[in-house]
Amino acid sequence: MELRKGLEDVAVKETAITYIDGELGRLYYRGYSIFDLAEFSNFEETAYLIWYGKLPNEKELEELRIKLSTNRELPDSIINYIKEVKKDANPMDVLRTAISMLGVEDTDNSDIMEKSIKITSKIPTIISYFYRSRKNLEIIHPDETLSHSENFFYMLNGKKPSEIESKSMDVSLILHMDHEMNASTFACLVVASTLSDIYSSVIAGIAALKGPLHGGANAEALKQFIEIGDKKNVEDYINKRLQSGQRLMGFGHRIYKTYDPRAKIMKEYVKEITKEKGIYNLYEIANAVDEIGIKELGNKGIFPNVDFYSGLMFYSLGFDPDMFPAVFASSRVVGWTAHVVEYLKNNRLIRPKAIYIGEIGRKYLPLEDRQ
Ligand code: SDX
Repeated sequence: MELRKGLEDVAVKETAITYIDGELGRLYYRGYSIFDLAEFSNFEETAYLIWYGKLPNEKELEELRIKLSTNRELPDSIINYIKEVKKDANPMDVLRTAISMLGVEDTDNSDIMEKSIKITSKIPTIISYFYRSRKNLEIIHPDETLSHSENFFYMLNGKKPSEIESKSMDVSLILHMDHEMNASTFACLVVASTLSDIYSSVIAGIAALKGPLHGGANAEALKQFIEIGDKKNVEDYINKRLQSGQRLMGFGHRIYKTYDPRAKIMKEYVKEITKEKGIYNLYEIANAVDEIGIKELGNKGIFPNVDFYSGLMFYSLGFDPDMFPAVFASSRVVGWTAHVVEYLKNNRLIRPKAIYIGEIGRKYLPLEDRQ
């Protein structure tokens, strides 16, 4: 039996949801290129595609829109929790707890897909309510007439998004929606494989995504740009960081050994929205880190990943940095639940092994005889 640290190159299932070409830097959801989906699609349509395996017709899309828009509100018990929880709580902890409370309240016997849509619908509300409550702002209740992305922006900022804000929100959520067998998706599968419930799976995904090596890198990447302060400091900053053994956040990937296509797409929208927001200097710094970072690390197959620009995007859309992983989760919940549904079609309990390196047959000594 061979030890595979980090389960590198170990396949846990077959999937028809997402294909990643790590060498060529390509990503496909159900066979459709991420470049086409980012340019032409929207959150609801791409969520339908990932969940059901095909692009929806008008009737199917409308049905999903209605389900997502009419399930956004939260039970009073959860609204009260969000209003009372300490204001400096980590948003991923608040999200994880609120989803857990939703699971307690969801006693209907709707199927896993219906529950997945409900959870997907409510995550933006949880995030926005906490964002406003901790700033002592009135919460903004969902507007059923708005799309998923527009409503998310509206509940957060109290105003409807401009055209570029709306498109940027949609593209950001599309880009984060699935990524094959990443750590948080695998965490969801492990829980699902024991035939536990979908809320427990999603909570496992949130718990895994919170880590700075996974969904937490976006805020760390933005922190780098702010620390650098001016593009003339970039080269020195990168050299100091790498020489001290620290990683360049937003760089590197287990699968991509070239530029992450999602970062390529995100970069173009970040360039535009930072202009509109008057923080184009942060884009210029990021772009310099991008170029110089690749000079330093590209030969090791280490390039910008999705988190490199997404922090700057979420910041431009109004989110606090500590909320970025929760925004990531608001989209990845579609991929998590789609992989769970796919896995359960041919379920097998996930139970790997460990290679024992300890002693065997040690003699038990009574307490008084021990050193
Ligand atoms: C996401 O899996 C997914 O698909 C994830 C994700 C998704 O959509 O779900 O794409 C989202 O999580 C993107 C990744 C976000 N994380 C970061 O940006 C954090 C910084 N990146 C890394 O820590 C790292 O690149 C990982 C964790 C992303 C991948 O790590 P691996 O594949 O386990 O590689 P490794 O840690 O074994 O590193 C291999 C070598 C090491 O050097 P050596 O010890 O061999 O000399 O590459 C070096 C590492 O030091 N390295 C880096 C680096 N990433 C790897 N060196 C400097 N800066 C970096 N960012």
